[in-house]
Amino acid sequence: MAGREPGTILITGTDRGIGLEAARQYAEAGWRVVACAHHPETALQLKKAAESADSGRRLRIVGLDVTDSSAIQALARELEGQPIDLLLNNAGLYGPKQLTFGFLDAEEWIRVFRVNTLAPLLMAQAFTTHVAQSRRKIIAVISSLMGSLGNNISGGHYIYRTTKAGANMVVRSLAVDLRPLGIIVVALNPGWVRTDIGGPHALLSTQDSVLGLRQVLERITPQKSGLFLDHDGEMLPW
Ligand SMILES: NC(=O)c1ccc[n+]([C@@H]2O[C@H](COP(=O)([O-])OP(=O)(O)OC[C@H]3O[C@@H](n4cnc5c(N)ncnc54)[C@H](OP(=O)(O)O)[C@@H]3O)[C@@H](O)[C@H]2O)c1
Repeated sequence: MAGREPGTILITGTDRGIGLEAARQYAEAGWRVVACAHHPETALQLKKAAESADSGRRLRIVGLDVTDSSAIQALARELEGQPIDLLLNNAGLYGPKQLTFGFLDAEEWIRVFRVNTLAPLLMAQAFTTHVAQSRRKIIAVISSLMGSLGNNISGGHYIYRTTKAGANMVVRSLAVDLRPLGIIVVALNPGWVRTDIGGPHALLSTQDSVLGLRQVLERITPQKSGLFLDHDGEMLPW
């Protein structure tokens, strides 16, 4: 993909799926990648990517549970003074599929809320200075079309939908609050992707989804801050 000079990206949830593929593609494109894995010891494909010649060993693996605010702050301190061009909040959870209406569980909702909604906010709080010091200044949250109020005509999926809708609101407020620092904040829908969350029948491969997301992020401008964008760059309804 032709574009500007590669920068530094920090990605959460790189153990597998979209996060793993994003870590791979950005490293292969010459970016320095801080790949935050939940369980680095078992993230074998990520380790392979880090050792691969294609990634030029620009991919550094860091262990991070995004619900652990002290660990987030410790990582931010460790990376103090290092500009981060793109903070990609990717880690996500669907929650137990059997928890449909009538069987919902408060503790499970809170568990998913901490990953999908609260973590992007805590990450943004901790890394705003690093992003502000960079050239591109982008914070992106991998949301979901399932979090769109306007698009919800099929109902259900309470835990996932509400936590992604909450993440969208985090994006809207961050976009306003961080505008004075020149930081662009967007919510991105990766499409329906073949991962543990998307399942085997999803339409997109992780490769195509990430390629699309990278193109969207490559063309991002301050005018697009505060938007909810699809993997092909189309604007989505909140
Ligand atoms: N696939 C789709 O169709 C689709 C559609 C719309 C949006 N999305 C979003 O895309 C993002 C990536 O999901 P995916 O499809 O690639 O699913 P995935 O393969 O299940 O990947 C999710 C990643 O998030 C990590 N994660 C979960 N809890 C975490 C925590 N507490 N701390 C750190 N990492 C954590 C997981 O690691 P562990 O398992 O080790 O915890 C895993 O690496 C998510 O935000 C998801 O909601 C996916």
